[in-house]
Amino acid sequence: MVNKKRHELIAILSQNENQFISGQTLSEKLDVSRTAIWKHINELKKDGYQFESAPKKGYRLLTKPDQLNETTIKWGLETEWLGKSIIFKEKIDSTQDVAHRLARKGAEHGTIIIADRQLSGRGRMERQWISDDSGGIWLSMILRPPIPPHQASQMTLFVAVTLVEALERATGLSIQIKWPNDLFINGKKITGILTEMQAELEAIQYLIIGFGINVNQNIDHFPEEIRDLVTSLQIVSGKEWNRTNLVQTILQEFEEAYQNYIDNGFELVKKKWIAHAYKLHEKIWIKTTQASFYATVQGISNEGALIVRNENGEEKLIYSAEINW
Ligand code: BTN
Repeated sequence: MVNKKRHELIAILSQNENQFISGQTLSEKLDVSRTAIWKHINELKKDGYQFESAPKKGYRLLTKPDQLNETTIKWGLETEWLGKSIIFKEKIDSTQDVAHRLARKGAEHGTIIIADRQLSGRGRMERQWISDDSGGIWLSMILRPPIPPHQASQMTLFVAVTLVEALERATGLSIQIKWPNDLFINGKKITGILTEMQAELEAIQYLIIGFGINVNQNIDHFPEEIRDLVTSLQIVSGKEWNRTNLVQTILQEFEEAYQNYIDNGFELVKKKWIAHAYKLHEKIWIKTTQASFYATVQGISNEGALIVRNENGEEKLIYSAEINW
């Protein structure tokens, strides 16, 4: 059971990161005694939070534990509906599968399923997603967007753009989107997104948006055959990242951007996607069921197709293809 006062305490200290807040102010804000504040701080220290305390100045939050669970994610999370309900599992087959089960039973819009380790993580095209370690963020969200099923592919592109912005903001790194929806740093994959949908002809019942972000793995963590293709935030930046903070930043950014997309449509998402497109205006090789040819990347359509220009200067829409980047 989450202790509400401790939750509020951590929220106040997180909002004022790096600043001291006096015991007196905290006790007034939370309407408890200063001794109670002191006790809560000691309890939080046991959970791995680190504080600096100084006479007359009060308390300052230094670091949060990187122990993913419902409580650590909720502490200091400033969202209204996304993550109101968080299901955390230390070990699970796939967060996607749990999300489907819960969505079928009516789980609310914005429910999050997150795991420390996945034993059968799934990628696109029935590929395996290696996630049997707690170095990454393995998360699925249940969404019930008020859009027709044919627009669902826009959601995948929207998620890619939003993750890029959240991760760039949190890490200062420069990230690109490789169509349809892989996030790349320095030409290597850092994040994969899997969108699954349950819909009737006219309406979406629910979407399960899953993403895996490689965070604190070092290169030996990945099987040798994919080491040239993948990377993690730690590998590119040389430092460890707090997954709880990253998840909070993502959820906050996502909630705001989602509202914007639902209210104002795809135009802004498309602009941002193009601004981050991997190999924009560069030559790639494409093989579809009909033909194979060289082309340059131009952008994306409203349906999420890749727009390319072939060597005769004609624009083509690519919905599905084998691509050599
Ligand atoms: C891809 O690049 O093919 C998509 C990978 C998606 C992986 C995430 S991790 C959380 C969620 N649970 C899964 O089993 N898969 C997605």
